[in-house]
Amino acid sequence: MTETGSLLTSLECRACCSEFEPSHPVGVCATCGHTLLATYDLQQWDSKGWLAKLSRRPATLWRYRELLPVQRSESIASLGEGFSPILRLKESADAPGIQLLLKDDGLLPTGSFKARGMAVAVSRARELGLHELFVPSAGNAGVALAAYGARAALQVRVYVPMATADSVQAACRAYGAKVHAVGETIREAGAYARESEKGRGSFDMSTLREPYRVEGKKTMGLEIFEQSPDGEMPDAIVYPTGGGTGLVGMYKAFTELRSAGLLARIPRLYAIQPDGCAPVVRALREGSATVTPWDQPATVAPGLMVPAPFASERILESVRESHGGGATVSDDALIDAMLTLASSEGVSASPEGAAPYAALSTLIHDGQIHPGETVLLYNTGSGLPFSPDRLRNAIHT
Ligand SMILES: Cc1ncc(COP(=O)(O)O)c(C=O)c1O
Ligand SMILES: [Zn+2]
Repeated sequence: MTETGSLLTSLECRACCSEFEPSHPVGVCATCGHTLLATYDLQQWDSKGWLAKLSRRPATLWRYRELLPVQRSESIASLGEGFSPILRLKESADAPGIQLLLKDDGLLPTGSFKARGMAVAVSRARELGLHELFVPSAGNAGVALAAYGARAALQVRVYVPMATADSVQAACRAYGAKVHAVGETIREAGAYARESEKGRGSFDMSTLREPYRVEGKKTMGLEIFEQSPDGEMPDAIVYPTGGGTGLVGMYKAFTELRSAGLLARIPRLYAIQPDGCAPVVRALREGSATVTPWDQPATVAPGLMVPAPFASERILESVRESHGGGATVSDDALIDAMLTLASSEGVSASPEGAAPYAALSTLIHDGQIHPGETVLLYNTGSGLPFSPDRLRNAIHT
């Protein structure tokens, strides 16, 4: 038994079935180059006893430490992340008869859900003896890595697309990270980062190219499970999708809970993307096994401008196996949703975080969600850094 109680056993590649020892740093599968996912010893686990103990633990994501990879408490770099509220929203004219819930990760450290993945991945990186970390990012992941890197006293380099807001770059620098602004999208920033970091002994924290950020994202699903009264999970979870880690993480959480005998029915997962960059929704509609890169991506939601998500098989599998689906939204609809959430609900959502609300009318029109259901909208980031007027001008000029 480890000091934290972590049940981590190995890292496995679902593409070629290779297994790897988790006690030293690894990125992707050494055999085939696909994503590695952590596995846990769920068979011998007293999951019912665990559930009874949870409510007495601190309200951070570390309350799920048995299902997280970190082995020693001293490795943990925490800023109090996790356990964000689930709010009930008013009925929307766009979705009559649907009970709307919103989980608000805009309240997490650094203002987005990226704190979850980075808290866990940076803690594990420190535990495995890493010193220098880098990440290509549309913004939020870079800020979160910079903050957790500062907390853990590790060096951080962030590679952002050239158009990334100065405020984001300044925030990374304030946390002590080095920032490189390069390329049009995260795809070019990532290619440049990997090339220029070669041979420097640094570690790539790109989403799904290392195994532990998705473990942090998994806590979104664990929290939804724990926060749902009497095990009454929402029928559907609607999620703004860029790199797809959130969907993969939530689906992983639900399958682990199901294997441990704690969950009977997995909520349907819906991927929402802007109509100017929707490779995942297109692949879902076309029934493809992988995502083909999106040409000329354009959207006001930086975190959703991911033309070629890396682990597309895992993303599509998470949506399909949960019997969910997807929808696209216009940039104007994203901005309208930011304004409605703020003025009629008091919720501050980033353009990405507002996407699920913006997608409601399409989801109901397509028959993907139905009157009488409970639907949870995932707000992944705070809207405070954004000016809706400025975003609107950026589309219409
Ligand atoms: C606020 C926000 N929401 C959603 C996303 C997309 O997340 P995922 O990679 O889990 O699809 C991002 C990614 O940068 C983001 O910053
Ligand atoms: Zn493999």
